[in-house]
Amino acid sequence: MSFNIAIDGPAGAGKSTIARAAAQELGFLYVDTGAMYRAIGLGLLRKGTDLASDGALEAALADIEVGLGYEDGAQQVYLNGENVSSLIRTEQVGNMASSAAARPQVRAKLTELQRGIARRENVLMDGRDIGTVILPEAQLKIYLTASVETRAMRRYQELTAKGETYSLEQIAEDIRDRDYRDMHREVAPLCQAEDAVLVDSSDMTIREVTDRIICLAKERMEG
Ligand code: CDP
Repeated sequence: MSFNIAIDGPAGAGKSTIARAAAQELGFLYVDTGAMYRAIGLGLLRKGTDLASDGALEAALADIEVGLGYEDGAQQVYLNGENVSSLIRTEQVGNMASSAAARPQVRAKLTELQRGIARRENVLMDGRDIGTVILPEAQLKIYLTASVETRAMRRYQELTAKGETYSLEQIAEDIRDRDYRDMHREVAPLCQAEDAVLVDSSDMTIREVTDRIICLAKERMEG
């Protein structure tokens, strides 16, 4: 049977950086489910889909195919066969992904894809609902969080390094909005699973958090 690790938490908690490093050190496949929601977000933006209309959303989703692949161990996400791994990393796509992720039709489209990978492989999967909905039987669940200020500063540095200009205040506001949407939606809201280990990364380095997760994983694998 495969060993599954679920990492959930709000935007900017450092999940993807930490999850990627921990997965590599453990020899697990890293699955970034946020990238799949972002790919759908990009597809919907390109089509100019009105999310308020169920009909328009369903018609657009019927035309959107999301795929995952790996190049040199790095996850690649495909939208109708096009590698969109870099194109999805903008605030605009992130905001559309977050709005689209509140819709059950969008979540249903990705659920089986995510579960199928976890059945076949040892995975470290990160997202919002992995421990609660997608992999409720995961052998290790982590809820990774940090203060809004810390998360906004990290996201600001990440976007500035890529040459995108946003104010820190704007990013903090986006993070608050996104937290609210993720935590209050009706389907699969972001929340800590009862059996998840809480890790607050506000005052921890990436290395410290990664080591903590590896240590917890090794304990569970041996136990
Ligand atoms: O990079 P960031 O943490 O902001 O977000 P992400 O992990 O790339 O995911 C983009 C958006 O997809 C999030 O804001 C969530 O609303 C949504 N998402 C979700 O609903 N469920 C998941 N398992 C992963 C992402």
